[in-house]
Amino acid sequence: MATQSNYAAIVLAAGAGTRMKSNKAKVTHKILEKPLINWVIDAAKRASIEKIVTVVGHKSEQVIPLVKDKSEIVFQKSLDGTAGAVRICKDAFIGFEGSIVVLSGDTPLVSDDTLGTLLEMREKTDASVAVLTMVVDNPYGYGRIIRDTKGEVERIVEEKDASNEERSINECNSGIYCFKAQDLFIALEQVNSNNAQNEFYLTDVIEIARKTGKKVIAHKASHGYECMGINSRIQLAQAAKCAQRLINEQHMDEGVTMIDPDLVWVGPDVKIGQDGVLFPGTHLYGKTQIGQDCTIGPNSRIYDSKVADGCVVDESVLKSAEMEEGSACGPRAYLRPETVLCAGAKAGTHVEIKKSIIGPGSKVPHLSYIGDTTMGADVNIGAGSITCNYDGKHKNPTIIGDGVFVGSDTMLVAPVKIGEGAVTGAGSVIARDVAQDALALTRPEHVEIPQWAKKKREKFAKE
Ligand code: UD1
Ligand code: CA
Repeated sequence: MATQSNYAAIVLAAGAGTRMKSNKAKVTHKILEKPLINWVIDAAKRASIEKIVTVVGHKSEQVIPLVKDKSEIVFQKSLDGTAGAVRICKDAFIGFEGSIVVLSGDTPLVSDDTLGTLLEMREKTDASVAVLTMVVDNPYGYGRIIRDTKGEVERIVEEKDASNEERSINECNSGIYCFKAQDLFIALEQVNSNNAQNEFYLTDVIEIARKTGKKVIAHKASHGYECMGINSRIQLAQAAKCAQRLINEQHMDEGVTMIDPDLVWVGPDVKIGQDGVLFPGTHLYGKTQIGQDCTIGPNSRIYDSKVADGCVVDESVLKSAEMEEGSACGPRAYLRPETVLCAGAKAGTHVEIKKSIIGPGSKVPHLSYIGDTTMGADVNIGAGSITCNYDGKHKNPTIIGDGVFVGSDTMLVAPVKIGEGAVTGAGSVIARDVAQDALALTRPEHVEIPQWAKKKREKFAKE
């Protein structure tokens, strides 16, 4: 039996995807914020498939950046069908012996388990082709599986080429196959384009294999949704719903509470610790990691961020930010890239923080912008205070020592350094460094004119 290193995959992603009516390549459309093509490639990787070749063509400049680190790229010049796409990969497989799994970039929900089963079945039987099939309620658009009297797969007929009788069959081709590498490229030479679409169909390889006395086997996917092909926006939404449900159920099984799982969206690569509580309107995407005992939402979006144990994120947005243990943000905080809320720190209401460290136990509770700042421990930033970090050209740093008390509505004009334990007076514009334990204050003298307001009212009343 072949070893795992004899597993390879070809991912078809060159098609125009006209049914999407989009200026974007179909496989770059996203489900739970992850491009379709990356769902497919990651499933292949999880199934221990090391060599992956992606066929690009239509709008390839959009597809290549998503896959170039994870796969080899082959360019299909003329989009002449799925067999054409596989055929041009021949050079990438010179000397390769083993199994080649063919996947469609538009079939994102296939699981690594199913791919593993398909590989195993083909190798055990030494079949020329193992095709993954599915039984669906509405087979419209899919290729139908035609079985012979013994129940073996004889051929696949496309919707557009099928007779009425064939169209009534509801076992369909998933577009996912495992081929014996040596047989595949030989069979492909015999595929022609005499069909309704004048295309070279990869599905014809099945009939060709049968006719040359090779073995063809089929595996019915245990879950039809795994093989959902996405050709339209409606199918994109259906697949997203399905992925949402599967992912949410998995997290709930592992001890996460979702107040209403229909209103929680979690990407496939997100991790959530036990006893997390996710309120409606929570979106967790990318490589986000949430620790144990966190409360997230309602109405929060977290991308590629790390949230440690016991944190609270209330109606907030985090992008590539980090929250250490027991820190909190919101309602309505915006933590931008390279923000770190250290243990027990707090970013409160209408607070935006960018590229800054908020030290342990420090608080930025109300209406602030903090950018390019390094803040020590136990600092208190008064309401409405901001760092003026941008002079129109440069982003300048602010350094705030431990225990500093910044009075409300202080403008910290960077670059500026506030020494440990210092205090700034409310309403000050601090444009110079402040020494440790000092009070810095820029405040015009208080002027008061007795009875002025009353006289004004009286004057108005006479007018
Ligand atoms: C294909 C199958 C059909 C199956 C269905 C499952 C064929 C002929 N038909 O139909 O039996 O039920 O998938 O979803 O294979 N592509 C290329 N180059 C091309 C043409 C297509 O790379 O020249 C890529 C597309 O980008 C796509 C995949 O191949 O990712 C499938 O092509 P698509 O046109 O979507 O095939 P279907 O009509 O869905
Ligand atoms: Ca398709």
